[in-house]
Amino acid sequence: MRIGLIGGTGREGTGLALRWKRAGHDVFLGSRDAARGQARAKELGVQGGSNEQACDADVVLLAVPYGAHAKTLTGLRDALSGRVLIDITVPLAPSKVQSVNLPSGQSAALEAQALLPETTVVAALHHVSSAHLADLEHTPDCDVLVCSNDKPARALVADLMNDLGLRGLEAGRLKNAIALESLTPVLIFMNKKYGTTTGLRVTGIE
Ligand SMILES: NC(=O)c1ccc[n+]([C@@H]2O[C@H](COP(=O)([O-])OP(=O)(O)OC[C@H]3O[C@@H](n4cnc5c(N)ncnc54)[C@H](OP(=O)(O)O)[C@@H]3O)[C@@H](O)[C@H]2O)c1
Repeated sequence: MRIGLIGGTGREGTGLALRWKRAGHDVFLGSRDAARGQARAKELGVQGGSNEQACDADVVLLAVPYGAHAKTLTGLRDALSGRVLIDITVPLAPSKVQSVNLPSGQSAALEAQALLPETTVVAALHHVSSAHLADLEHTPDCDVLVCSNDKPARALVADLMNDLGLRGLEAGRLKNAIALESLTPVLIFMNKKYGTTTGLRVTGIE
């Protein structure tokens, strides 16, 4: 499958690109600067270029900071029309990352869906550390809860989480992204409190 990463040059993009490449996917790393995208992609052994080019994929993933979320999506609205978009954004307040920060649209993923009505938005990957993703020797002890209003897209993205070496679990409609995004500041607090990198596990599902 061809997977395009918008903002793929960053921390999350690195591990996602390496892991999906290892699983046999055709990964394209996007950047605001096509030359930077190409250079970073070359280092990781995948293809790269602009964010617009990254949208030409079976599944597109958005990996930019929340401060750039709306502007990035608005600029790529046409390129993302008809696509499945995985939104991993956590709307952290920069100076208060250990406290829940509800954005005006209640969640970044709901805001994305409102901005892009012709795109199928799927929210996922809010609780997986980029450091763990980038360490291919490490199997992250973490489930990935996946929500979307589109059932086939939700199932597809849950399968793609399995290809990362994680366990993808379907977790309902896109509105549930409010809960998923809100849990990340809780985990960030616990990381500091207990001096570790936490993960999330759901019990009772074989
Ligand atoms: N880091 C984690 O552990 C983690 C875990 C779960 C979820 N997330 C979420 O994943 C997303 C990406 O996190 P990250 O840590 O990978 O971010 P990051 O490394 O800080 O940034 C990712 C990429 O975003 C692009 N970018 C930066 N500022 C931008 C701007 N003003 N406008 C447009 N593009 C901009 C940059 O790409 P170019 O300069 O090449 O365009 C950058 O390489 C965030 O929304 C975060 O909440 C992160």
